[in-house]
Amino acid sequence: MERTFLAIKPDGVQRGLVGEIIRRYEAKGFTLVGLKFMNVTSELAEQHYDVHRERPFFASLVEFITSGPVVAMVWEGEGVVGAARKIIGATNPLTAEPGTVRGDFGINIGRNLIHGSDALETAQREIALWFKDEELVNWQPHLTPWLR
Ligand code: TYD
Repeated sequence: MERTFLAIKPDGVQRGLVGEIIRRYEAKGFTLVGLKFMNVTSELAEQHYDVHRERPFFASLVEFITSGPVVAMVWEGEGVVGAARKIIGATNPLTAEPGTVRGDFGINIGRNLIHGSDALETAQREIALWFKDEELVNWQPHLTPWLR
């Protein structure tokens, strides 16, 4: 079953949006299989954002993601990688559609509340980077027949 990596960034935690954000994925019908509240080391941040290493915003991105605790999560479900990105909305919260997390709660591209893997291969890389195998829970909710 398809899985994706999501992280509520330090601004989402500081603003008390953890419950609201998790609620949206639960309500949609996806299954939570990994969850931890943690501080991010510079090493992890740099590996996570490795593709952006040469971009001008790389240093501030790493500084921001390491500035306070984040909620790291793995969600499971059919089509979850793409659907989770739709729920997140466009990178810039100012232009993100209302109804998306970024569109509803943000105004600043550098403070855009949540990360979500952008493709299946990225999801696999990010899940392996952030979670050990034994930290992921293999289970199925009893509601499964109505949602899948
Ligand atoms: P990116 O992977 O392009 O966006 P997304 O998070 O929507 O997949 O960029 C990673 C993060 O880098 C993005 O969430 C916010 C930050 N960023 C900036 O601060 N400035 C920028 O111009 C861009 C493109 C991204």
